[in-house]
Amino acid sequence: MRSSEELAQAAGLIAGADAVLVCAGAGMGVDSGLPDFRGEQGFWRAYPPYAELGLAFAELADPRHFAEDPELAWGFYGHRLRLYRETVPHEGFGLLLRWAAAKPGGAAVFTSNVDGQFQRAGFRMVTEAHGSIHHLQCTLPCGNEIWPAPELRLDVDEETMRAAGPLPECPSCGRLSRPNIQMFGDFDWVSQRSDAQLRALTEWRRGHRNLVVIELGAGQAVPTVRRYAELASAATGALVRINPREPEIRHGRGVSLPYGALETLTALDDLLTAG
Ligand SMILES: NC(=O)c1ccc[n+]([C@@H]2O[C@H](COP(=O)([O-])OP(=O)(O)OC[C@H]3O[C@@H](n4cnc5c(N)ncnc54)[C@H](O)[C@@H]3O)[C@@H](O)[C@H]2O)c1
Ligand SMILES: [Zn+2]
Repeated sequence: MRSSEELAQAAGLIAGADAVLVCAGAGMGVDSGLPDFRGEQGFWRAYPPYAELGLAFAELADPRHFAEDPELAWGFYGHRLRLYRETVPHEGFGLLLRWAAAKPGGAAVFTSNVDGQFQRAGFRMVTEAHGSIHHLQCTLPCGNEIWPAPELRLDVDEETMRAAGPLPECPSCGRLSRPNIQMFGDFDWVSQRSDAQLRALTEWRRGHRNLVVIELGAGQAVPTVRRYAELASAATGALVRINPREPEIRHGRGVSLPYGALETLTALDDLLTAG
């Protein structure tokens, strides 16, 4: 990557802040080898069996499959659970942690990713706005319980993408359980865990006004993360948006870097350690 005025400007925003708020979408995982689900073609490249079935991401991530076709539903999530468990976060995560460690406010994360990669990389304050694949809830749901599932392994046939039983049950009522992820048209998602994370993040932001927002790989299709990053940086204009395909900033405040996450973080680290 050529060093540019924008890159220097972004490094200046990071150097001048007392805390780092990382806002991330699926693009953050691309350099760790994870697929984003950009467009039907992108999704089908990652999951060819679904191309044959003609099923798009939004159709698969529909909670009604847990009632109508549990093996199809758990095939999709069981496969992703294994993929995310096996994935090692790329070095960019460590760079962000290192920058934040030198600041009084440290780091916090707001992400729509359900993959748990930030926790795995060592981040402690993480808001998972759409939930987590590493946690389960009842499909009914019979209550607000959310429980971690570190031992859960599903046998997924890679050709059909269907899970072979036994499928996980709700410990309270014995019905089928499902990932604690907010799906499309999902009225049964138990939001308590994400709500509590968000309250803690709001509290943290109150104590750290001079923060820099570093947004990585957040798409426009489901703009949860982009909107949050814009609002969190509205008072200061300290927004660094890293995104190779959708780098525009609506109101022009902040710095837009149209490159991948890892190469950009590495280039910024060179500037930060030199300066
Ligand atoms: N890993 C996960 O947990 C995961 C993965 C896919 C989708 N999802 C879910 O699906 C929805 C998808 O929305 P989204 O905006 O996160 O993803 P998206 O797939 O819609 O967009 C990904 C964004 O990342 C950018 N990108 C691609 N390669 C990149 C790279 N190397 N570095 C930086 N950015 C890169 C793209 O330009 C795009 O803007 C969310 O609701 C999320 O919960 C989660
Ligand atoms: Zn139950």
